[in-house]
Amino acid sequence: MLKVGLVGWRGMVGSVLMQRMVEENDFAHIDPVYFTTSNPGGAAPSFGGKTAPALKDAKNLGELKACDVIITCQGGDYTTEVYGPLRAAGWNGYWIDAASTLRMEDEAVIILDPVNMNVIKDSLAKGGKTFVGGNCTVSLMLMALGGLFQNDLVDWATSMTYQAASGAGANNMRELLKGMGAVNAAVAAELADKNSAILDIDRKVAEFIRSDANPTEYFGVPLAGSLIPWIDKDLGNGQSKEEWKGGVETNKILGRSDSPIVIDGLCVRIGAMRCHSQALTIKLKQDLPVAEIEALLAKANDWVKVVPNQREASMKDLTPAAVTGTLTVPVGRIRKLGMGGEYISAFTCGDQLLWGAAEPLRRMLRIVLD
Ligand code: HSE
Repeated sequence: MLKVGLVGWRGMVGSVLMQRMVEENDFAHIDPVYFTTSNPGGAAPSFGGKTAPALKDAKNLGELKACDVIITCQGGDYTTEVYGPLRAAGWNGYWIDAASTLRMEDEAVIILDPVNMNVIKDSLAKGGKTFVGGNCTVSLMLMALGGLFQNDLVDWATSMTYQAASGAGANNMRELLKGMGAVNAAVAAELADKNSAILDIDRKVAEFIRSDANPTEYFGVPLAGSLIPWIDKDLGNGQSKEEWKGGVETNKILGRSDSPIVIDGLCVRIGAMRCHSQALTIKLKQDLPVAEIEALLAKANDWVKVVPNQREASMKDLTPAAVTGTLTVPVGRIRKLGMGGEYISAFTCGDQLLWGAAEPLRRMLRIVLD
């Protein structure tokens, strides 16, 4: 059985990964070795009923080298510190990583096997050993719209995103909830009085949201009752790093970085917990009937679900509230836009901790084990 080192298993993405690995019985097929940055020698957990040796030091190259596979959700700084020295020390195992650090390196494949199994298999056949999960928004977009991209039907696309707090981290999710509670508390008395004036309530809410009493430690600005139209670093050309990833990662996942499809748009943080949504405008290469587009999308993978472009179905099935905690990736609002027959809209929503982070990693492990 392969010895699989698990790093960052205690964090948010790592915890979702452990939960999914238990659900899919992955531990039955591996010998797990748990690493830690804070508690070497401590007792290891026993996910999937599988015992493991005491926790190993995640910075100890000798211990890491003893693994056939390393899966890390520890974050980019850890990857930066450990990956190069580990390879330089001669380790030739499989490195499966959630962090973005290595994504655009030539030696790395961005993994999303329901969409790019061919790219993954090609790399494995050539001895590839470095596999990195994609940006969550990109992965969710491709799970939803794989049917169009895989059939080379997309001329260009814009994606306008509505990204959840979880993409920024666990503390940010807590801050969103604290903010929601604090806004509510600021007007609790007025809300309880059904004769109070809504514009008085609104004024008080606005004053509170802008005040220092509103928690903004992690986002830097208010999110509850507002939104943040910038995600990740400023690249200095008007584009955010998150927006840049949309184009380069999509093309790398599809294995077409040398003949890229233009994908660009604006990325926005909203007050959802863990589901990223996105509204797309897509210019197709052909004027296809909507029914044909929907059929192509529906059969692309087992998780995409086409939602008919109707009011009730869209409101019920195409939202973070409906999707959170599930692997289903609904896509709907598909219609021809006024610009012409080749222009369509689409709206999709998906759990960014599952397909956007943990799920491609555990599936890559299973591909390695096969
Ligand atoms: N960068 C994403 C976000 C999350 O901030 O929502 C991870 O891909």
